Amino acid sequence: MSTENGSANTNGNGEASAIKTYPVAPRLAEGAQPTPHVGPDLDSYKAAHAKSVGEGSDEWWAEQARKTLAWSTPFTTVRSGDFSTGNIAWFPDGALNVAYNCVDRHAFANPDAPALIYEADEPGSGRTISYGELLSEVCGLANVLKGLGVRKGDTVSIYLPMTWHAAAALLACARIGAIHSVVFAGFSAEALRDRVNDCECRVVITSDEGKRGGKSIATKAIVDQAVKECPKVEKVVVLKRTGGKVNWVEGRDVWWDEEIAKVPRFCPCEPMGSEDPLFILYTSGSTGKPKGVVHTTGGYLLCAALTVKYVFDVHPGDRFGCMADVGWITGHTYIVYGPLANGVATVIFESTPVYPTPARYWETVARHKITQFYSAPTAVRLLRRLGSHHVSGHDLSSLRVLGSVGEPINPEAWEWYNENVGRGQCAVVDTFWQTETGSIVVTPFPGAVPTKPGSATVPFFGHTPVILDAMSGKASALTFLLAVYLTSPQILEGNNVEGVLALATPWPSIARTIWQDHARYLDTYMKPYPGLFYTGDGAARDADGYIWIRGRVDDVINVSGHRLSTAEIESALIMHKGVAETAVIGASDELTGQAVYAFVTLKPEFSYDPNDEGALTKELVLQVRKVIGPFAAPKKIYIVPDLPKTRSGKIMRRIMRKIVAGEGDQLGDLSTVADPSIVDVIKRRVAGTL
Ligand code: WT7
Repeated sequence: MSTENGSANTNGNGEASAIKTYPVAPRLAEGAQPTPHVGPDLDSYKAAHAKSVGEGSDEWWAEQARKTLAWSTPFTTVRSGDFSTGNIAWFPDGALNVAYNCVDRHAFANPDAPALIYEADEPGSGRTISYGELLSEVCGLANVLKGLGVRKGDTVSIYLPMTWHAAAALLACARIGAIHSVVFAGFSAEALRDRVNDCECRVVITSDEGKRGGKSIATKAIVDQAVKECPKVEKVVVLKRTGGKVNWVEGRDVWWDEEIAKVPRFCPCEPMGSEDPLFILYTSGSTGKPKGVVHTTGGYLLCAALTVKYVFDVHPGDRFGCMADVGWITGHTYIVYGPLANGVATVIFESTPVYPTPARYWETVARHKITQFYSAPTAVRLLRRLGSHHVSGHDLSSLRVLGSVGEPINPEAWEWYNENVGRGQCAVVDTFWQTETGSIVVTPFPGAVPTKPGSATVPFFGHTPVILDAMSGKASALTFLLAVYLTSPQILEGNNVEGVLALATPWPSIARTIWQDHARYLDTYMKPYPGLFYTGDGAARDADGYIWIRGRVDDVINVSGHRLSTAEIESALIMHKGVAETAVIGASDELTGQAVYAFVTLKPEFSYDPNDEGALTKELVLQVRKVIGPFAAPKKIYIVPDLPKTRSGKIMRRIMRKIVAGEGDQLGDLSTVADPSIVDVIKRRVAGTL
């Protein structure tokens, strides 16, 4: 088995460590069936990658775009624009329709082939939806939306649980050229309201209720509450998921099934310019206001399709199982668009990894003979802790590739995944990417690239990641224009380097803008290091040239793969009537990767019972749940008399981060702290001695 073959290696810190290299997995090695798309060795990857970057790469991309997608108007220009202006375009004079590419062409060729494998919350109560059936549902809903006045370029918000209808809803929008904005159904009514208002949509699609882990989620009730403060919303389309009782607003609310019964089951596809927006997806940044990341049509779909094909080595007849939620980018690209563009079946998993037992994933894999399984380190760590006996005894022999995404995967979790789920036979692909990149950026290629647990390894086609000296050339927005000419970011060439990660060449699925805020797009991604796309992540390149992602270097934190902004949580807390000031930090957590810790000072006039601090902290947790959603709730809240600040009043989060990390004795120079005595108070609060 590969473990024995492992050789000692470096882990990106330049030090020898116990990290091993795993050769190409047996299921993908030379001679394996089906023959891997890229293989059999690192050289074959390098040769293929070389064609996708630099001189001649336009021809490579043009060929991929023609081979992979069906265009209603062929493109003549491959790309234009660059990072300095942020006006990037791919295949700009071409036209195509995403629903046609993901549904129609496969439905015509193989109407009975499975498209969606709906694994419903209650085991055994799901079903498989063929391409023919999916086409009929997508067309029906597209006609319903048209009937409600939705036109090309209009926005539609989608707040749906993980039923197969969610995929149909995205595709129905794409079919008529409406821009969808999916809001994860774990967001609160207030968070939903803000996202609906930001993109000014007139129609919201939701369900009566959702089901997850045996519990009901009151989706419609949350929409009702949100939409009260959404002046532009005229219609709410409601899917009957459970048949539970809902409030009904006559004239505004319509049932999905009743409306669809009234319309024809064919709806022509709207030809879309390659650069027309396909969707908006809100994500957290370093300020309180979420960003509406905009993805366009041709480039996004091409990268979704190519990454599914090459990173997961997908072949006809495969059954692709991505366990994410459609409310996040992973669900958009790797549940819906990528697998369907390849014409394979994709799993819509409604439940949780532990419902009804911690064997749920493995029962699902065995039941549907899943070939690629894509999950997150937090789930792997949880299942590892619950014990490998839940994995054994299930037939996992259909699996060829195991993916990981969302946060760095620790080597112990990687090894467990490889040995227990992969049985030493499968490729493990640790895939690094972001909402903004649209598709995978750094990843092993299963038939070609030896892996090291904890490293995302090498760039996907078309990517040239660079590691920068964090302090060099960083331009503020104001000095940007000057900076372009005067400073250039210090790219750390060669191996054994560590710094921040940027991407040097535009790729087709890069986000094109922030909805209605192009300036923020430029400020966030293009201006920090002129000429490059800034990821916000730290990274190292080890002695073999492999990339190790270290995690965010900005005010974004990552809890169970959910991306949260500390500023957003702070502004939720500050809305509480008693709160004067607050500082939110991310602290490392064994299970969730990071966890939210909050330090709060109270208004002098606010009185509470200091002997019952628990009651107040509970209220504060509820406050965050209400404004953002349950997944953003702080794990720990400390009520403190003051926060460490500089003399100019800037909160020094670094100090609290170190104290919580147990590094309170290594705080370094504290001469800039206005009132150093507060540092001791915080240390004692965290230690529980005060
Ligand atoms: C952030 C992006 C990409 C889909 C899910 C998250 C972190 C993502 C990895 C990985 C280390 C990772 C980064 C990134 N991240 N994948 N394989 N190894 N870190 O998308 O919500 O936009 O979050 O997730 O910090 O910046 P997102």
